[in-house]
Amino acid sequence: EKVILAYSGGLDTTAIIPWLKENFDYEVICVCADCGQEEELNGLDERAKSCGASKLYIEDLTDTFAEDYIVPCVQAHAVYEDKYLLGTSMARPAIAKRLVEIARKEGASAICHGATGKGNDQVRFELAIKALAPDIKIIAPWRNDKWTLKSREDEIEYCRQHGINLPFSADNSYSRDRNLWHISHEGLELEDPANEPNYKHLLVLGNSPEEAPDEGEYVTMTFEKGVPTSVNGEKMKVADIIRTLNKLGGKHGIGIIDIVENRVVGMKSRGVYETPGGTILMEAHQQLEELILDRDTYAVKKNIGNKLADVVYEGKWFTPLREALQAFVESTQQYVTGEVKFKLYKGNIIKAGTTSPYSLYNESIASFTTGDMYDHHDAEGFINLYGLSCKIRAMKHKELENK
Ligand code: ARG
Ligand code: SIN
Repeated sequence: EKVILAYSGGLDTTAIIPWLKENFDYEVICVCADCGQEEELNGLDERAKSCGASKLYIEDLTDTFAEDYIVPCVQAHAVYEDKYLLGTSMARPAIAKRLVEIARKEGASAICHGATGKGNDQVRFELAIKALAPDIKIIAPWRNDKWTLKSREDEIEYCRQHGINLPFSADNSYSRDRNLWHISHEGLELEDPANEPNYKHLLVLGNSPEEAPDEGEYVTMTFEKGVPTSVNGEKMKVADIIRTLNKLGGKHGIGIIDIVENRVVGMKSRGVYETPGGTILMEAHQQLEELILDRDTYAVKKNIGNKLADVVYEGKWFTPLREALQAFVESTQQYVTGEVKFKLYKGNIIKAGTTSPYSLYNESIASFTTGDMYDHHDAEGFINLYGLSCKIRAMKHKELENK
């Protein structure tokens, strides 16, 4: 029997290879899903095989991650608990989908992942797998009684006993997850919310605002029907737009957030996220919508976006609810076309001009000085009716007081 292992090349998932063979007698097929983590994938094949895997798939999911997962969340302005741009949450279903596809191709009966029993990732991987392949068995070593390794030292020793001598170090670092959209940092000093993050050691994608250049820098972006299409005049696919914005945003200290978030499994957890390009892109999209969407649609869309954020965070990507929320958002994007210009300066995104052929902003109506389409007298009758309920209520209370 075969098992598909979600493999990163790190110590945890490497130790899982001999463990699966020893405890279940599986043939282990590793799948390394590349969602843009910019890791050195050279030599990974050899590593997986020398650890006992029969095969390694290296799957480039970057474009599908960008187009099918990130773009819908950008369009929805899906942000969890007002801060977290969902980088890890969006990637898990993309990875799980590919794991299932390979499991089918290989005729595997099980899928194994290295997420712990305390986190959200186990929920996301497993809800996705259940939704796409209800017959497939899921193995989560960290929750398995046969998994007795408690520390990195244990894992290194276990690997050594199984003839695997890799240059893994025992020293602790942050628990990180990186992809095209973001990097997350958890653990070490962050575990106590009383501590200031050690930004010098922590940041990977860019500078802190203090270290950012003293000169601001302009960036322009275009969107067509809600989809980002170019940066600084250059047409690019979405993944390259995000890469370009990551460099610019990172340089100027954009998109660093520090949050205590509520995990699905009930606990609060403190993390720092760097989402430099994503923060710029979402802000730009929102600038356009401010001009283009009518008030009522904008208001409902905001609620839908918040709901989508919860759904994605909770691992419910492959559900009818996610599809319906996304369909609503898509139907609002028809005219979200135009150009946004920002100045990036020491952690700030400063608006520098937004234009769209579909802008509903009408200068001659809004202006204080001009206008013949707007008659000030109309406002009086409008306010009389609009305020009628306030007035009736006040009259009633007066009457009651005087009794
Ligand atoms: N707390 C974030 C989330 O739930 C980040 C999780 C990071 N995952 C990881 N395996 N390091 O999406
Ligand atoms: C993990 O526990 O595997 C990472 C953290 C999370 O899933 O929230």
